Amino acid sequence: MDEVGIGIVGYGLMGRAHAHGYTVAPHVRALRVVPRLRAISGRDEAAVAAAAVRYGVAEWTNDWRELVARDDVDIVDVCTPPGTHAEVVEAAAAAGKAVVCEKPLAADYASARAAADAVAAAGVCGAIGFNYRRLPAVSLLRQLVREGVVGEVLLWRGSWLSDEFLDPDIPFDWRFERRLGASTLADLGAHLVDLALWTVGEVDEVAAQSATFTRERSGREVDVDEASSALLRFAGGARGTLEVARICARRPCDFVVEVNGTKGTLRFDYARLNELWLGEQGDDGRLYGLRRIRAEHPSHPYVSDGWPIGQGVGYGVSFVSQAADLLERWPAGPWEPDLDDGARVQAVCEAMERAAAEQRWVRVDEVTGR
Ligand SMILES: NC(=O)c1ccc[n+]([C@@H]2O[C@H](COP(=O)([O-])OP(=O)(O)OC[C@H]3O[C@@H](n4cnc5c(N)ncnc54)[C@H](O)[C@@H]3O)[C@@H](O)[C@H]2O)c1
Repeated sequence: MDEVGIGIVGYGLMGRAHAHGYTVAPHVRALRVVPRLRAISGRDEAAVAAAAVRYGVAEWTNDWRELVARDDVDIVDVCTPPGTHAEVVEAAAAAGKAVVCEKPLAADYASARAAADAVAAAGVCGAIGFNYRRLPAVSLLRQLVREGVVGEVLLWRGSWLSDEFLDPDIPFDWRFERRLGASTLADLGAHLVDLALWTVGEVDEVAAQSATFTRERSGREVDVDEASSALLRFAGGARGTLEVARICARRPCDFVVEVNGTKGTLRFDYARLNELWLGEQGDDGRLYGLRRIRAEHPSHPYVSDGWPIGQGVGYGVSFVSQAADLLERWPAGPWEPDLDDGARVQAVCEAMERAAAEQRWVRVDEVTGR
């Protein structure tokens, strides 16, 4: 079987998750190619060397450009902070490498657009890491909406609550610097916006508000929103609300999406990630309410990447399914979600940032200029 060389840029949480994905993908899918973790890069030599051993990567370097230039690397997988993505993506595309990039594609729309355009111009495959699409329950939610099970979508609702910024003594790092870490609207919001666009369709216009309660950490200014909320108007007529916040005590990574349509409601709660809730307007009145679907049945998407029915899937499986999907389509593609999807999401996020800053409704095409 042909081998596909992978080079991972960044060895933090996502470097680990992506390495896990490529390692396990051949265990769960019959692939025609074998992924090989050839190199990983990071700025701290001792840490990246240790990560290479731990993640099972053959070699390491402290220079990502060296990784991109390697002949035995076919896919450059970008797992560094958002503000660094575009430069690496563009260099990889110019070197003729396929690119997998963590979300958000960049810290601003112009950089995201440039990265997506570079990949398109080079004619290489590109994918963005919206891994939650690949959870069985999330994928099933989208499938049911697209099949019309809830009728015409009237409302979409998404929220993401964590406590990661609540303690004012957490020292400054890249997540507190917008240029590097992007806004919370773009960093956490990107996942929600992707699910909204993927499930419901394009967003025309947004309004938003943002707040930062701890404005200084380690003596440095924090310019990232800690909590934001937005109103969305979809092109198809549906309305939406989005909330992202990193200062919610005792909320770990609680994300919920809900769709209300003319014929029913669908609700996904990440804390119960193997379940999907469905209420159908036409049901027998005695069944009034939402019913819990166990998204583990063989008829459900991605279930076969996990364990037998009843065991469920977890966060890690979403990266396994992501790697398996991409490798299954290697080398011709197309990959999805692609970097254009990443740029479309970024445009909505930037519109929300602008709406919050200027306290007005902002059209997404004001950001894209299209
Ligand atoms: N899809 C998901 O579920 C998910 C979850 C967490 C993070 N992310 C995204 O993945 C990317 C990486 O996040 P992470 O949690 O792995 O981060 P991390 O802090 O754990 O790791 C960051 C890596 O980037 C390197 N790096 C390169 N330039 C840097 C710089 N200027 N400052 C700091 N580190 C730098 C670090 O050395 C490290 O290897 C981000 O874009 C983030 O939004 C995605």
